[in-house]
Amino acid sequence: MEEAPRDDGRIVREDAMSPEVSRRAFIGAGAVAGAAAVGRPLDPGPLGPVVRTAASGTPALLGGDPVRTDPFPDWPVIDAREDEALLEVLHGRRWYRGSGDVARRFEDAYAALTGARYCIATANGTSALLTSLAALDVGPGDEVILPPYTFVATLNVVFLQHALPVFVDSDPKTFMIDAGKIEGALTDRTGAVIPVHLGGNACDLDTIMAVSRRRKVPVVEDACQAVLGEWRGRKLGSVGDTGCFSFQASKNLNSGEGGAILTSDQDLAARCHGFHDHARVRRDIGTSSRPSTGRTANLRITEFQAGLLLAQMTRLEEQSRTREENARHLTAQLDEIPGIRPARIYEGCTRNGYHLYMLRYDPEPFAGLPRARFLEALEAEGVPCSGGYTPLNTEPFVKATLETRAYRKIYPPQILADWEERTRCPVNDRLCEEAVWFGQTMLLGPRSDMDDIAAAIRKIRAAAPDLARA
Ligand SMILES: Cc1ncc(COP(=O)(O)O)c(C=O)c1O
Repeated sequence: MEEAPRDDGRIVREDAMSPEVSRRAFIGAGAVAGAAAVGRPLDPGPLGPVVRTAASGTPALLGGDPVRTDPFPDWPVIDAREDEALLEVLHGRRWYRGSGDVARRFEDAYAALTGARYCIATANGTSALLTSLAALDVGPGDEVILPPYTFVATLNVVFLQHALPVFVDSDPKTFMIDAGKIEGALTDRTGAVIPVHLGGNACDLDTIMAVSRRRKVPVVEDACQAVLGEWRGRKLGSVGDTGCFSFQASKNLNSGEGGAILTSDQDLAARCHGFHDHARVRRDIGTSSRPSTGRTANLRITEFQAGLLLAQMTRLEEQSRTREENARHLTAQLDEIPGIRPARIYEGCTRNGYHLYMLRYDPEPFAGLPRARFLEALEAEGVPCSGGYTPLNTEPFVKATLETRAYRKIYPPQILADWEERTRCPVNDRLCEEAVWFGQTMLLGPRSDMDDIAAAIRKIRAAAPDLARA
C-alpha cells in the first residue's frame, strides 16, 4: 500500500481515500520532499525552532552522567477542585448513582464534549466494551474483528461473550489495525468490528465505517486510550455504533477506575443502559424496542468517580493541547534521527489524543544495538520508556481459551483448527519487536523535556558501538 508522509507526521493511505483527499495529500507530500531537497528545515510550527543539545558523552549505562535527573511530570494532577468534588459527594451521602446526580452530570458533560447523543458512564473501560457487545447481541457463534496490538481487555470482552476473536494485522506506520485488511476477514458470522484507537491515535475510520456499513456489521470503537482524539473533526468514540472509554488511573481522563459508552442510537443506548444496570430504564433514554433479557449486570460508575471526572475534565483541553504541542516538537526532532520512526497519523485524524507517544526503533543505524539494550540505555539517561505490547494473538491463554469445553461446544472443529492460521499477524509480530513507547505524562512538561528525550536518543546513537560491545 502506498503512503505519503507529510510535514505534520500524517500519512495517507491511498486505498482509503477519495480522489480529492488523495490529491491534497499528494500535494502535501510533495511539499515535504521539495523542502528536504532544498535543505529547508522542517516547519517548526507555532513552537519555534528545534533546539539541539549535545549528543556526545559517555552513556549513563556505561558510567557517564545522564542527560536528565529531573523527573517527568507527576500524574494525576490535582488541586482543590478534586477535594471539593469528592467532599461534595461524601457529605451529600448519596454515593450511589441511583440516588445522586453527579454521574448524570458527568454523562451530560461528556456527551456534550464528544458530540454524542448519549453517554452511559460505567465502572471501567472493560465494562463499557462488554456492555456494548452484549447490547449488540454479540455472543456465542459470532466472530469479532480486533487488532492484535491492544491492551488485553479488548480481547477479554470477546471471550466473556463466548465469541471468536479474529485478529487483523497492524499497519506498522501508525500502529493501528490495517483497515484495508478488515474486509477480507469478515464472514457471515462476524458480529462486530472493534477498532482500537491505540495511544490516542486514530484508526482509519473512513475505511472501517465504509466496509462495516456495506456489510452491515456494527462497529464498537475502543477509544479507551483516545480521550479528545478526533477523526475528521468528530471525537473518537462518537463515530461507530458505540465508543468505549477508560478512565483508569493511567488514562488522560482519570478517576482511578471508570469508563463510558457513547452512542447516538437511542435503542442501543437503552440496551446499553439496561445491560449495565440490571435492566433499569434511564428516563431520558427510555426503553429498547427489544424485550429485556435476564442477561444484565451491575457495571455502574459511582458518584465519587463521576465527581473526580468532572473535576479532571476542567483541565482536559489544556493538558491535551500541551501534549500535542510537545509531541509535534518531539516528532520534528526524532524524524531527523536515523533508525527512529515516530508513529504516523492518518490524514483523517484531525487530533491525536496522545495517551502514548509511540515510535519504531531500527537497530541498524544504532550499530545493531538490540531494542532491549536501547531501552535500558534510555532509562539510564533519565527517560522512562517501554517496549509496549507483545502480540496478543499468540499469547498461550488465547489458544487455551479456544480449547475450553465451552468453545469446543460452540464452534465446529474445523473453525477452531483453522483459527491459528487465519489470525496470523506477521506485520504486528515485527512491530512488537520494534516499538518504543513514552507515556502521556512525559508530554505534559516544558518543551525542554522533549529536547532531553531527543538528546538522550542522539547520545545513545553516538555511543551505540560502545553500548553494543559492552
Ligand atoms: C485499549 C484499551 N482497551 C480497554 C481497556 C480497559 O479499560 P479498563 O482498564 O478501564 O477496564 C484499556 C485500559 O487499560 C485499554 O487501554
